[in-house]
Amino acid sequence: MFCKVTVLVALAACAESVVSAGVEFHLYAYGNGIKSGLQLFYGDGQAYVGASAPTFVTEAVNITLSQAEEGTEFVATPDTTVDWDSEPTMYIDTTEGAINAVGFVKGNETLGDGETTTGLGLYGGWAFHKVENSTIEMKFIATPTNESDIYLIKWNAGGTKASDEVAVSLRTQAPVSLDS
Ligand SMILES: *[C@@H]1O[C@H](CO)[C@@H](O)[C@H](O)[C@H]1NC(C)=O
Ligand SMILES: *[C@@H]1O[C@H](CO)[C@@H](O)[C@H](O)[C@H]1NC(C)=O
Ligand SMILES: *[C@@H]1O[C@H](CO)[C@@H](O)[C@H](O)[C@H]1NC(C)=O
Ligand SMILES: *[C@@H]1O[C@H](CO)[C@@H](O)[C@H](O)[C@H]1NC(C)=O
Repeated sequence: MFCKVTVLVALAACAESVVSAGVEFHLYAYGNGIKSGLQLFYGDGQAYVGASAPTFVTEAVNITLSQAEEGTEFVATPDTTVDWDSEPTMYIDTTEGAINAVGFVKGNETLGDGETTTGLGLYGGWAFHKVENSTIEMKFIATPTNESDIYLIKWNAGGTKASDEVAVSLRTQAPVSLDS
């Protein structure tokens, strides 16, 4: 995407709405009824948000995400030293009517039907998914785990969410403060 501008106002607007290729970011969840700005991390191949690692996962790793090109994949780089052969790529399950966990696929692993790593992007710092010829969708939900303030992140592809599940936006914006 090109931003050809002559005035500062337009430049500011342009810079705000477009995250350029190659940028690195963390994602934080915001939604009604959950603590604001819980950070997204990798937990045994799935995406969770929370301030700490849950005890029930073997491998919980804070990650930095990056995107080679706009509208392509979200690739995860561990923030700590881990023994990964390849960088995991985030996927969502777009199967009609499904509500499944957002996960990460590594190098030679294969995805199931409906699962896709492509079409993820950022708009003004908000994570979305878009398939060819369709509109931008932001259908992330947070499902509580049995540990407080830790949620499994899922993609709602038209399913009926449970009463304790919360629609969330995943944003690059860090919370002002995690206290309170
Ligand atoms: C992520 O980093 C935060 C801040 O350093 C830390 O409190 C938290 O436990 C880390 N989470 C994981 C899953 O390692
Ligand atoms: C993927 O690669 C790893 C490491 O090289 C190997 O241990 C594993 O068996 C491979 N899995 C498949 C499904 O090929
Ligand atoms: C998307 O729209 C273009 C132009 O209208 C069309 O040629 C193409 O086949 C469409 N692709 C899909 C996947 O529907
Ligand atoms: C908490 O949930 C995890 C994941 O579903 C499960 O493996 C674990 O056994 C549960 N722990 C307790 C204490 O129920």
